[in-house]
Amino acid sequence: SQRPIIVQGPMPIEAEEFAGRLENVEEETSGNFVFYKGTVDDYPVIVTQTGKGMENSAAATAIAIEKFNPIAIINQGTSGGHDPELNVYDIVLGKRTVNIGALKTGDRDEGEGIEVTEWIPMDLMASEGSAGEDPDAEKARYYEGDEDLLAAAHAVKDTHTKGKVVEGTIGSADFWNNEVDRIEWIHENFGTSVEEMETASAAQISKAYDTAFLGIRILSNNKTNGGEYDPNTATANQDYVYEVVSEYISTI
Ligand code: 5AD
Repeated sequence: SQRPIIVQGPMPIEAEEFAGRLENVEEETSGNFVFYKGTVDDYPVIVTQTGKGMENSAAATAIAIEKFNPIAIINQGTSGGHDPELNVYDIVLGKRTVNIGALKTGDRDEGEGIEVTEWIPMDLMASEGSAGEDPDAEKARYYEGDEDLLAAAHAVKDTHTKGKVVEGTIGSADFWNNEVDRIEWIHENFGTSVEEMETASAAQISKAYDTAFLGIRILSNNKTNGGEYDPNTATANQDYVYEVVSEYISTI
């Protein structure tokens, strides 16, 4: 039988529009995850409402892989801009994805304070030893977007008319940054285009199972250039991702 494509969205507004466009839908739940199992162009596609955050998206990814043996996983939804060149409604294709909450602090004794800007990226996958002691762990780990999914995304770029579609680096962690200096610090130290709360964890689990993966994130806000939050971006992103999925299906 054909291996399904999984399309993940954290919040209802980031999953329901795509789920509504599936044919022959059956709903299945596991924990707090909702799987809408249906078809696009007669090919099996499962939309997952994962809930927000790194833990939910990691668990939803592992469960989907174990249950459905997918050929590919797309994690999509909204994000906040780290690059002032990107505007609300622009879409970032995750050429790379990185956990921006994985950090090691400086070495400071009692009374020596907290110096956030001296924290360094930490790679929990560098070795099986202690990340706190391992010098190889003093770097960020980047997950690469799948080439075939990226090619499908580029092929249908023009269907997204409300903004541009660019390749970039998606940064994830369970935090929402509103300090522009901190956003700039993350942008410089991790090379991020946008931040959100899910993609890197789904990428990490997909990689653990060698499953093709791509993050596709629209900007719903961008504090670096005054871009105000617009929740309607969630729908625009699903419309674009639907085209990506349809294009990808035509190649497999
Ligand atoms: N920072 C963090 N998460 C954001 N999201 C949208 N914009 C941002 C931002 N600036 C997404 C997250 C999460 C929800 C709060 O919206 O991925 O699911």
